[in-house]
Amino acid sequence: MVSLRDSLKGRLSSKELEVLPRAFDIIGNIAIFSEFPKELEKKEKIIGNVLIKLNKNIRTVAKKTKVHGGKYRTKKIKIIAGEDKKETLHKENGAAVKLDVEKCYFSPRLGSERLRIARLVKRGEDILVMFSGVGIYPLVIAKNSDAKEVYGIELNPIAHRYAAENVRLNKTRNVFLIKGDVKKEAAKLKKKFDRIIMPLPKSAGDFLDCALAAAKKNAVIHLYDFEHEDEIENALEKVKNKVRKFKLLNVVKCGQYAPGAYRVCVDFKLQ
Ligand SMILES: C[S@@+](CC[C@H](N)C(=O)[O-])C[C@H]1O[C@@H](n2cnc3c(N)ncnc32)[C@H](O)[C@@H]1O
Repeated sequence: MVSLRDSLKGRLSSKELEVLPRAFDIIGNIAIFSEFPKELEKKEKIIGNVLIKLNKNIRTVAKKTKVHGGKYRTKKIKIIAGEDKKETLHKENGAAVKLDVEKCYFSPRLGSERLRIARLVKRGEDILVMFSGVGIYPLVIAKNSDAKEVYGIELNPIAHRYAAENVRLNKTRNVFLIKGDVKKEAAKLKKKFDRIIMPLPKSAGDFLDCALAAAKKNAVIHLYDFEHEDEIENALEKVKNKVRKFKLLNVVKCGQYAPGAYRVCVDFKLQ
């Protein structure tokens, strides 16, 4: 396939070609450049249009203007070419999720990590996904395992609304979603879980007490964390600080989010 760089030769100077981003995310049919250099601002529409011509699945091209932030972990984007829309349908691991890419958190880069978790699930498990966003973890688990029930809790009302729609879209019968703060809603469920997934790397450690209260005796917990490559063991310290007896199952580096900085998942079993 012809690369974006090759297709832009003659339309961008060699200096501009040098700073052309090499990577972008694709969510549904929206392509998003995470880092778009200021020097290319005047050429952004040309770049976006060429990308749409090259890739039939892309209808909209956008650039991130503000990184993930705030309690809902959302980003700001600017559309630079194609259809003026921020809602799309993304397919992954046998599940489909509709979402607004600006109003909800979603990362297509975590697809293989979500499948890794789904494949660990044993027949009949009850699962709690804290911070469930547009429902992608619960749905990938429901579609790729024999879990009994999968519960998701999400604070962002817009993400929760999409998640509810996504459950209907995927015709799953064992996914149940709750809108609200994990700290309040997990206890209200009055249910104990075999497996708890905590995909809020920025502060999941603060919710460990809550996970312990909702866990069955030998439950497995997956705690996500952000760590520098030289300090991966800090993720384990967060578990040790709160959990008295556990068996460490795995520490998985599941993606780089900045130079030298990783998203890490600590898998552990309560003892
Ligand atoms: C990093 S995102 C992960 C979303 C989803 N699991 C995914 O992988 O796409 C974290 C999510 O947690 C939600 N969130 C943050 N604090 C929360 C809380 N106290 N209770 C429930 N959800 C929360 C945010 O709104 C956001 O959607």
